[in-house]
Amino acid sequence: MAIERLVEPTAAENDSEEAKIEISLRPTTFKEYIGQEHLKNNLKLAIDAVKKRNDGASLDHVLLYGPPGLGKTTMAGVIAHELGASLRVTSGPAIERAGDLASILTNLKDGDVLFIDEIHRLRRAVEEVLYSAMEDYKLDIVIGKGPAARSVRLDLPHFTVIGATTRTGSLAGPLRDRFGIIHRLEYYKEPEIEQIIKRTAGILNTEISPDATTLLATRSRLTPRIANRLFKRVRDYADVNGDGIIDTKIAEKSLELMEIDYLGLDPADRNMLRLMFDNYGDKPVGLTTIAALTGDEATTIEDYYEPYLLQLGLLARTPRGRVVTEKGKNHLKGDKWTKI
Ligand code: ADE
Repeated sequence: MAIERLVEPTAAENDSEEAKIEISLRPTTFKEYIGQEHLKNNLKLAIDAVKKRNDGASLDHVLLYGPPGLGKTTMAGVIAHELGASLRVTSGPAIERAGDLASILTNLKDGDVLFIDEIHRLRRAVEEVLYSAMEDYKLDIVIGKGPAARSVRLDLPHFTVIGATTRTGSLAGPLRDRFGIIHRLEYYKEPEIEQIIKRTAGILNTEISPDATTLLATRSRLTPRIANRLFKRVRDYADVNGDGIIDTKIAEKSLELMEIDYLGLDPADRNMLRLMFDNYGDKPVGLTTIAALTGDEATTIEDYYEPYLLQLGLLARTPRGRVVTEKGKNHLKGDKWTKI
């Protein structure tokens, strides 16, 4: 069975309390948005140019890719806000038919931003409608069936698509080519995660010591969504077992309770590394085999476990499969709790 994970960087369920807090923590301007400096600088320039020209043209379509939890949706909100535009949010799997996309597109206004999360999961028929919509703001639809069917072209407003994907590799070439701005979101640096934690503490009115902030930052997998999630759990611990102030002791105890080790790995990560090593030693293991060992989907392994383990060098990818590295083996053997 797959293990439930606190550190899983998927977004919280729509109407949950968790999601409401997540939304309240989202920055809305470039100034508030911490990190991703390179991306911000490029986007700022493109947005300033659109505003300065003010000739009715919309911002080029933007494709954001990278591991989950790094702020793709948040950045889409910031872009819309900085443009002074409305944001419409949807996702690849949510658009079931070409007609669904047609109804979204015809309801947009000039300058609006359409955010399509998991854009690599769009169906082929939907994707094809999107091509001409993105390229020349036309919607080709077929009316009627059989011999009486005819095709009509509707004008669409000049909108901007922001697509988000964890993998550009699985995006069809023609779709990729329609994005004028393509950027990868990088893992954050630890000092940036510290700043995000301080900002969150301020918004949630919680006191946290500088040492505890550093400690939490080292366990957050360089990912803001995880930093915020850990912060909330540690805050709960501080409220129940202390006076609500988060100091190092409280942070350490609560991380121990969550079984998050000093590299930010949780039981599911360690379980995967251990299963791989115990069953295959130094031999490469295929993705589907790993998935069978842990009871997860292969895509879950690829999108949620692997990126951070690869980033840390605990896991390596070879043409014949994945292997646990020396560093990975040492981590499994060593003391995982006391180092900072
Ligand atoms: N909350 C989540 N991500 C953030 C970011 N990049 N900057 C500021 N606050 C955030």
